[in-house]
Amino acid sequence: MTHRVLHLSDTHISRTGPDEDGADGPRALQGLLHDVRRVPELDLVVVSGDIADDGSKEGCDAVRSAVGAFAAERGIPHVYCTGNHDRREGFAAALGSGHLGPDGASIGRPAEVDGVIAAVSEVDGLRVITLDSLVPGKTHGVLGRDQLDWLAAELETPAPAGSIVVLHHPPIFVDAIPYQQAVVLQEPEELGRVLAGTDVQAVLCGHMHHQLTGRLGNTPVWVTPGVVTRIDLTAPTALVRGVVGAGATIVDLGGRFGPVFHTVHARDPRAGSEVYVYDPAIGEHVAEDTY
Ligand SMILES: [Fe+2]
Repeated sequence: MTHRVLHLSDTHISRTGPDEDGADGPRALQGLLHDVRRVPELDLVVVSGDIADDGSKEGCDAVRSAVGAFAAERGIPHVYCTGNHDRREGFAAALGSGHLGPDGASIGRPAEVDGVIAAVSEVDGLRVITLDSLVPGKTHGVLGRDQLDWLAAELETPAPAGSIVVLHHPPIFVDAIPYQQAVVLQEPEELGRVLAGTDVQAVLCGHMHHQLTGRLGNTPVWVTPGVVTRIDLTAPTALVRGVVGAGATIVDLGGRFGPVFHTVHARDPRAGSEVYVYDPAIGEHVAEDTY
């Protein structure tokens, strides 16, 4: 049994449209969805967090409307999880549990865990689990014991086509880039312990705005590039350089080699032009000529 997932992340649309860095999320999302319109045989669209740059319901509504129209045309579900920029109230008001059918109706079964928006659904035999790693006001991510226990209980019974786990904060990072450890999922080995020996085929994440893959134990982890901007790892490793360039991933599950990940890039003549350079050590943007 095979499944093909369009994996998007980090749309960062605000109530007024652009994000706090001035990047044009609505344009980036529309352009990307237009450019992937011919990708065949999609079964599911997943958006792994930072839906709304300002945490607003309006930002989430705009993403739901654009992604929902794409999904409805294809008759496939669309699934969302929270990111560090999201606020649970705004997310829930626009997206409910985050698991929506082709017609926009909820298909998710929410986790019975207080204070988080985690849920599970099944798409043609594939179990899709969203986790909520949001820590309000913080950039890093945490999964509490209750959420991990819920995940472990869900995974006790295998699904017909296995499972995917979707969360915003990657449980992996690039060791050579100093700022990354502090902003990803904390205590990733706790998640790794829960996933060991289960039917989870892949963990799908966002947050980094650049593609990245690694393993958590034996489970493949994929970090999809951002929609609103791409983070360009050519800057000095202490700095974060964001450039224009929406990307997404096609994830092929099952089959001979699954999970197979390939990235797609929106066609944009401005791709690669600088949006910001940010210094995490001081929490501010810095001028291009300072590095
Ligand atoms: Fe983001």
